[in-house]
Amino acid sequence: MSHPPSSGLQLGLFMPNCSNMYAISTYRTVPDEWPYESNKRIALAAEAAGFDFLFPVSRWRGFGGPTDYLGTSLETMTWASALLAVTSRIKVFSTVHVPVFHPVVVAKMGATLDHIGQGRWGINLVSGWSKEEFGMMGVDLLPHAERYQRTTAFVEILRGLWTEPPGSFNYESPWYQVRGGYSLPQPTTPPPIANAGGSADAQAMVARLCDWAFLSPPSIEATPSITSQIRARAAAHGRSVKCAGFPFVLWRDSEEEAAAEVAKIIAHKDSIAAGNWLEGVGLGSGSFDQFTLDMMVLGAGALPVVGTARQVAEKLAALHAGGLDGLLMVFQAYYEDTLRFEREVLPILREMGVR
Ligand SMILES: Cc1cc2nc3c(=O)[nH]c(=O)nc-3n(C[C@H](O)[C@H](O)[C@H](O)COP(=O)(O)O)c2cc1C
Repeated sequence: MSHPPSSGLQLGLFMPNCSNMYAISTYRTVPDEWPYESNKRIALAAEAAGFDFLFPVSRWRGFGGPTDYLGTSLETMTWASALLAVTSRIKVFSTVHVPVFHPVVVAKMGATLDHIGQGRWGINLVSGWSKEEFGMMGVDLLPHAERYQRTTAFVEILRGLWTEPPGSFNYESPWYQVRGGYSLPQPTTPPPIANAGGSADAQAMVARLCDWAFLSPPSIEATPSITSQIRARAAAHGRSVKCAGFPFVLWRDSEEEAAAEVAKIIAHKDSIAAGNWLEGVGLGSGSFDQFTLDMMVLGAGALPVVGTARQVAEKLAALHAGGLDGLLMVFQAYYEDTLRFEREVLPILREMGVR
């Protein structure tokens, strides 16, 4: 049974801070939007449209092939800093890889971002999964369960430094030792902490410690059972956790036109980069079929939400009813689509009472 979220649907953008963000495909209708000036323009348009948050990807290298998918990327703490300075209402997340940062450093960076944005910054803490990415830095990934034990320690240290009296916070773990922990300024308000893991290890940690679970449900139908599971786990700790998913949202005047556009994106897929991605996430060398590869192309596994403006609004509403409090939308042409979404889809969501 699904647990409907308590308040209205929060809308965000899964931003193109990385090259080719929208799809693992060489087909595009606008120039790549990764440069900072494009991100800034999109952020300002999203804020003007009334969107709630902006959310980046953290990557250190690309996935090869003709697109070198995500190979050029703006680092997400410095990216958030700039966007918080030019916006005034919208929330901005950073995505931080646990294996390559120390939590005391991130506590200070986070508090700085919180002060710059006056309470509008949040963190998505990810455990990391790409061997090549961390291999480039000489860092080995830990076994899966230990990865999340370390991420748990990371979250507890952030919370301690952000809320305990200065100098009083101590933490001992195999990965971090904090003695007389001290980080001033503390944030104006404890920043929301998200995690984007999909495994049981991730869910257990999110339920106990995080504010947001960023998820990738494979379908609208599968969403209620995934969100219910997270909420039930959190309830067992006397907590509540918000859930967000990431749809690839594409709409045209007719269903056929929208489907034809998706077909073009898939026809121009970068099979090399998509294959490297799938192997990286552990689907084994060449063991995935064509359908899996095609499904991976749109926003690297985003849930396709495609059709007319009304159909898209209905599907977004169904995701909300399935327990998603927030949506990190992937757009084909972020700037244009943000303006079009405001004009064509938002009024329908309002009419449905979802916003
Ligand atoms: C919405 C969303 C955003 C994510 N962002 C990143 C990211 O920026 N960098 C990264 O390395 N992994 C990212 N991930 C991957 C997850 O952190 C996680 O490693 C992956 O979903 C596998 O789950 P597991 O670690 O629980 O096995 C993201 C996943 C989701 C669903």
